[in-house]
Amino acid sequence: MAEKNIVILISGRGSNLQVLLQAKLPCRIAAVVSNRADAGGLEIAQAHGVPTAVIDHRDYADRDSFDAALARLIDTFHPDFVVLAGFMRILSAGFVARYHGRLINIHPSLLPAYGGLNTHARALQDGVRIHGCTVHFVTADLDHGPIIIQAAVPVLCRDTEQTLAARVLHEEHRIYPQAIRWLCNDRIELRDDGRVIFRYRKQTSHALISPGLE
Ligand code: GAR
Repeated sequence: MAEKNIVILISGRGSNLQVLLQAKLPCRIAAVVSNRADAGGLEIAQAHGVPTAVIDHRDYADRDSFDAALARLIDTFHPDFVVLAGFMRILSAGFVARYHGRLINIHPSLLPAYGGLNTHARALQDGVRIHGCTVHFVTADLDHGPIIIQAAVPVLCRDTEQTLAARVLHEEHRIYPQAIRWLCNDRIELRDDGRVIFRYRKQTSHALISPGLE
């Protein structure tokens, strides 16, 4: 099995990027691309000796021309997978189709609940007792692609947006390297019907009950 190449797209601080860089994944991280020159993740990538590139969406007239330029840049690295790690741009249908089955995202909620922004505040507002994060294949339907792995966390009575975000982020940092490892080891297949199939996966049947039973 040839070693896979991945390109990671970021917009901000890059904590998920950092755990991916530290996870000793069975792939080559060919480049980190940001749409913002001030993204903290760029320095993290450089500290790991990974090539970086910035492509500012404000330099393009519209979404399609930015996405076309972004795809041209990404393709110079010949990635098997394009990994979104806090990349805060909606991608056009054309871009998503170009990387069908090869474009992965992490989102800070248990999809399909709370797509979009401010997921933790909205979960708190709704009073849900369980929240979490999701790694999924990206489709043209924003935050609704086939799910690879999710982590659920309890929402505690005293939670603020910050404490809940930190609890979810901790789990993001556990599930994202796992998902990318599976992909790079050909353990996951996205079927034509949109279902994600696993090969040789151990499953657990523990329930998360929140608040717990007495
Ligand atoms: C993460 O919480 C990620 O799930 C979220 O942005 C944050 C990036 O943090 N992504 C989205 O909301 C995508 N819709 P990081 O830069 O520290 O990895």
